[in-house]
Amino acid sequence: MSMEECTYIRLGILAMSSILICFYTTSSTDFLILFRPKFDTTMSFEQKAFVYEKMIRAFRKIDHSCEMQGMYCKRPETQHVDCGRVLQGDKDYLSTLTGGSRIPLIPDPYLNMTCPAINSRIRPHHLHFDPLKLSGTAFARIVYTDYEFIEKQIQVSYHPQNYFCFAVDQKSPEEFHEKMRKLSECLPNVIVLPATESYDSEGHNNNLAHYKCMQELISRPGWSYLMLLQQHDVITKSVYELDRIFELLDGANDLWMAKEIAKRRNKKLKWTPRELRMFGNDSAISKEVLDSELKFSTGYVQGSLSRDTVEWMVRKVDLSVFIDQWNQSKYGGDEQYLTSLNINPALGMPGHFTDECLKQDVPVPGITRHRIHAS
Ligand SMILES: *[C@@H]1O[C@H](CO)[C@@H](O)[C@H](O)[C@H]1NC(C)=O
Ligand SMILES: *[C@@H]1O[C@H](CO)[C@@H](O)[C@H](O)[C@H]1NC(C)=O
Ligand SMILES: *[C@@H]1O[C@H](CO)[C@@H](O)[C@H](O)[C@H]1NC(C)=O
Repeated sequence: MSMEECTYIRLGILAMSSILICFYTTSSTDFLILFRPKFDTTMSFEQKAFVYEKMIRAFRKIDHSCEMQGMYCKRPETQHVDCGRVLQGDKDYLSTLTGGSRIPLIPDPYLNMTCPAINSRIRPHHLHFDPLKLSGTAFARIVYTDYEFIEKQIQVSYHPQNYFCFAVDQKSPEEFHEKMRKLSECLPNVIVLPATESYDSEGHNNNLAHYKCMQELISRPGWSYLMLLQQHDVITKSVYELDRIFELLDGANDLWMAKEIAKRRNKKLKWTPRELRMFGNDSAISKEVLDSELKFSTGYVQGSLSRDTVEWMVRKVDLSVFIDQWNQSKYGGDEQYLTSLNINPALGMPGHFTDECLKQDVPVPGITRHRIHAS
């Protein structure tokens, strides 16, 4: 089906919807704002109308049978989607759901935020949880928007043995802070840090946010690996798959690494363990290591660290100067900090790697983050 035909069909559907026409001819923008605020601004007008029309239909035939049968209930935005065709990889059909035809998640202004309602969405009574071999996974995520998306990500990786720590951007709207607070009050394994910092796309304060989550998480028993995440990262493995993957990693950290991007580090600052005041005077680190400049590499914010690594970062060394110096980078200091710890075996960080591969131009892949750039 060509794009023109798609648009034509959508317009046809639009014409059939008397409700929409009524609002279009009177106050279309008011309607859009009033009904569901903050709609995805990159959507074409036809696409918005199409999605709303489908939602109105879904709301009209409100059907609780999925809930009753303990099955997954689709949101009104996606009730018309034929998941069978999607899962079969039907390319023509998929093209009507992706790119410009993507269906956005539209915030529900009437979302029930009582504890029983939050719990019934995240961990409905009928769910059965098997114990995890490694006693749980912890997640640390920096967030600023899209509460329902965040809640969904907890739902898909929920397990009573898992922990979810959030650093919320100080400059987020109060309504978002309030929802995140509520979430942490209603679930025992959700931690929301006091919002004391702001984050930006240059990466400022990101390391600090994850570090503060580590400080909170290390006092919680059980979990074996920590995944470091950002706002819109989507978890694509089940809790049991993650448990098995971390069992196979067997204490090794998972961080994608590449050669240092030099301009991401402030060269005027001193980068030896001594100047960075990483170790106390009584540590067993040799003078030579203390006074040699560290080796550096670039990577991602996302990664998976073993519990021993987190314990070392929080309790064995002092990373405050290190974190502060990376925060003085103009751009991307958050993508250098972890990998740089990981390629300095002399520091003694558990689960570390080496810089031998990078020196020989052998890539160091990671499995935690998978990205696809759409053009
Ligand atoms: C919110 O959910 C709770 C628990 O399911 C329910 O008792 C309550 O009536 C709901 N409130 C609204 C306004 O729907
Ligand atoms: C550690 O060493 C530094 C300089 O070598 C010294 O200034 C400091 O007082 C020492 N701290 C302790 C606790 O001994
Ligand atoms: C990190 O850097 C940003 C940008 O320069 C700055 O605004 C912020 O205060 C710094 N954070 C800390 C904890 O010093």
